[in-house]
Parts: sequence; C-alpha cells; structure tokens
Amino acid sequence: MKKDFLKLLDFSGDELYAILDVADKLKFALKRGIKNKPLKGKSLGMIFEKSSTRTRVSFEVGMYQLGGQALFLSPRDLQIGRAEPLEDTARVLSRFLNGIMIRTFKQSDVEKLAEYASIPIINGLTDFAHPCQVMADLQTIREFKGELKGRKLCYIGDGNNMANSLIVGGLKTGMSVSIGCPDAYRPDKAIMEFAEQYGDKFCVTSDIFKAAKDADAIYTDVWASMGMESEAAKRMEDFKGYCVDQALCDVAAKDVMVLHCLPAHRGEEITADVFEAHAKEIFEEAENRLHAQKAIMLMCMGK
Ligand code: CP
Ligand code: NVA
Repeated sequence: MKKDFLKLLDFSGDELYAILDVADKLKFALKRGIKNKPLKGKSLGMIFEKSSTRTRVSFEVGMYQLGGQALFLSPRDLQIGRAEPLEDTARVLSRFLNGIMIRTFKQSDVEKLAEYASIPIINGLTDFAHPCQVMADLQTIREFKGELKGRKLCYIGDGNNMANSLIVGGLKTGMSVSIGCPDAYRPDKAIMEFAEQYGDKFCVTSDIFKAAKDADAIYTDVWASMGMESEAAKRMEDFKGYCVDQALCDVAAKDVMVLHCLPAHRGEEITADVFEAHAKEIFEEAENRLHAQKAIMLMCMGK
C-alpha cells in the first residue's frame, strides 16, 4: 500500500519517532557533507493554493539534496484553477510524478487527492493540520531538551491547524500538552476527542498562565491564519491578552524554549523581545523543516 502523510492522527508514536530518528540522521549527514541520493530520478509535484516561504523552499531543496527534482505547481497555472476535478488531477499527475505535496484549504481535498492518486500524498498544510511543521517542531524540542517524553508543551493562541497537529504529535510522543486559547477558538472537535484519552496529560484553558505553568516549550502562531483575512480585525480584539510575553515565560520552566512556526507577527501573538530572546530555537525550528521533510519524503517515496 502507498504511504501518504496526511495527518498525524494516522501514525503511531513509534512511527513518529522513526521519522524523527531519520530526520536527525539526515541533519547530521548534511552537516558533515555526506551525500546520498536515495530519491535519484524521482519527481515531487508541489501544489500550493496558499502562500509559502519555508514549506516551498525546504521541500524543493530537500528533494534536490535527495537526488530528485521538485516541480512548483501553482493553481493559477494548473487546470484545477479552472475547475478540473481533483479526482482527475490526481490520476493524471500519478502518471508523471512519484509524489505530491499539497498546501490547500480543506483537509477533505487532501484526503480526496490521496484516494484517487496512486502515488504518495504529503500534506503541506490545510486549515485542519500542519503535520510537516510539527515533525520539525518535535525534532527541535528533542534537540534542545534531550527527549520528548515527560516534557510539557504549551500552545498559546488560536486553536488552529498548528494547535491541532501539535496536540496529536505532542501526546503521541509522550509529552503533556496544554492549550491556552479563548473559549470560542478551541481546537477541532475531533482533536479534542482524540486528546481525551490522555486524561490529565492534556488540558485546554482560557487562562494562559495556567497553560504555561512549568512548560518546557511555549509555542504560538498567528491569530488569523491564511484564508481568514476577513476575520483579522475581530480576531485582534478576541485574542487580546493571548500574547507570549516575558511575564508568561516567567511562569514556565526556567530554561523554557519558545517556538513559532513562522511567519510571526511581533506585537500580536508574541512580543519582539521574547521573539529575539528565543531566535536561536525559532530559526533552528525553521531549519529543521528541511531535515524532517526529507525524512517524510523518504518514508513516502523511498524504496
Ligand atoms: N511555517 C510554514 O509553514 O511556513 P510557510 O508558510 O512559509 O511555508
Ligand atoms: N496557522 C498558520 C500557519 C502558517 C504556517 C496558517 O495556517 O496560516
């Protein structure tokens, strides 16, 4: 059966650890100039229905480093932009490519693409999930903290795609996860139901100080995600008080790390001083997109 990477709910903790171990090995090899081309001759199509800096560049460079090539496919140019059904696009592209990475709005579209494609599909972000980002996040936390098991991950802000994927990735790898968000912006219902089985290892609260207490890592993301631009003004009001600032970091563990998937809006979800104080972790996290995604591509498209 072909291996897709659609959402972290589809993977066991052991499978996530296996990807992280490969990501660490690839990072180590790259730093030492060790070249290996396991995806030689393979092609990845990258469909972007939303903007991207990190995802696009890290997939394209990652594919090149693994010996393959990546094609940037914009819906402005593809026939899907002119209503060719995804079912047909999936079957056509399966004849040319060895894998597809897609960034789009609906998770159901990614699942549909995977259903009709005979090649692996990788989710490069939907409104529901951002699983590639979270693999890089887990890699970064493990790098800085030594291990994930027993650590506390706190997410502050919108219960969005990042929150959904962090909850699943964090809990499955043995962390406890706390979410500090306004009541009206809680994570997806299916994710909340999944998290229930973890008992007191999971908590959602509107009290950000409670959420951040003794946290080993504090994570935040924009208040208005891509596609929510029309709600931005209302969200600025609704999220007042949900900013990661020094006072919040002070209630966390002494050596707390701060993470952000980027792009960041200083003065909104994070203060400029906290961002700069933790730039080391945040940009290592950005770099790890490359290593984690190479591991994901190997799992999906390798032998
Ligand atoms: N974090 C992230 O996915 O960044 P891009 O939107 O730039 O790809
Ligand atoms: N929640 C953000 C993440 C960007 C990487 C968005 O979907 O726009």
